Amino acid sequence: MTTDSRRRALIDTDPGIDDALALLLAWGSPEWTVEVVTVVAGNAPLEACARNVFRLLDLRRPLPAPLVATGAARPLARPLRTAAYHGGDGLGDLPDWPPVEPRVTSVDAPGVIVEAATRYGGSLTIVALGPLTNLALAVERDAAAIRGAGRVVAMGGAVDVPGNVTPDAEFNAHVDPEALARVLDAGVRLDLVPLDATRQVTLEPAALQSALARAPAPFADRVRRVVEYALRMDLAHGRRGMDLHDPLAVGVALDPTLVRWEPVRLAVGPGGQTRRAAGEPNARFAHVVDTPRFLSMFLERLCPAC
Ligand code: RIB
Ligand code: CA
Repeated sequence: MTTDSRRRALIDTDPGIDDALALLLAWGSPEWTVEVVTVVAGNAPLEACARNVFRLLDLRRPLPAPLVATGAARPLARPLRTAAYHGGDGLGDLPDWPPVEPRVTSVDAPGVIVEAATRYGGSLTIVALGPLTNLALAVERDAAAIRGAGRVVAMGGAVDVPGNVTPDAEFNAHVDPEALARVLDAGVRLDLVPLDATRQVTLEPAALQSALARAPAPFADRVRRVVEYALRMDLAHGRRGMDLHDPLAVGVALDPTLVRWEPVRLAVGPGGQTRRAAGEPNARFAHVVDTPRFLSMFLERLCPAC
């Protein structure tokens, strides 16, 4: 294990438009180094999500470039269900992306997660932004290693609020409920960021425009067009903007004081329901959010220093 106490992050993701914003926030945050990005099927099929990671790496060019590993192409015990909200390719179906050369270092994301947790221990924060399939498989391989990570933060679930993919289930939990249950049972001290919190952080068009106004034109134009795909969906459904589900998970991984936490024991239903249950807590979940402080962090860090 390294003795260097610098903070490091491993981000497991299914990009995904909000995942893309979460990765930009993570790469724009000086508190840590994003050492690894692992890819899981969710918003789009695995291959599309992997391609999107490289599209975003080519767009943002973070230094150092993270190691990229692909993982599960489907949930543990059911067929994959993707999300139309992100478009067929997962990033709003823009027709003019530059071609990318996927440079995948490994196709064993669960093994890479275990390796990173073993190597970095308490200085590692694992942030899961999609269905927990890769993380559950990593826990199966070496639960003690994952428990040794500094923090494990996951966007998912709906505790005291309705779901977003069924009336009582949130998308990541719904896609792979067995994986969420396995992670909750593994004693990893999960920090869950559910819809109870993420619906308090909405990106409105004007705020996005003002943040992008400071960015280099090619970067700003690409981000704007990707996000506008989701915004059109939200505005068409009467919402005033786009909920920043995954960016908030990254935000609270960077600064847990952005939210109020409550210890909870959650039971996972067959459809991905995540409701309170009796017994010892198996997680803590974020509920009250310091929305202005998070939104200013997000908007300040979204774009590379211009
Ligand atoms: O319910 C929101 C979650 O599902 C986010 O992670 C979004 O990217 C989708 O994966
Ligand atoms: Ca996601």
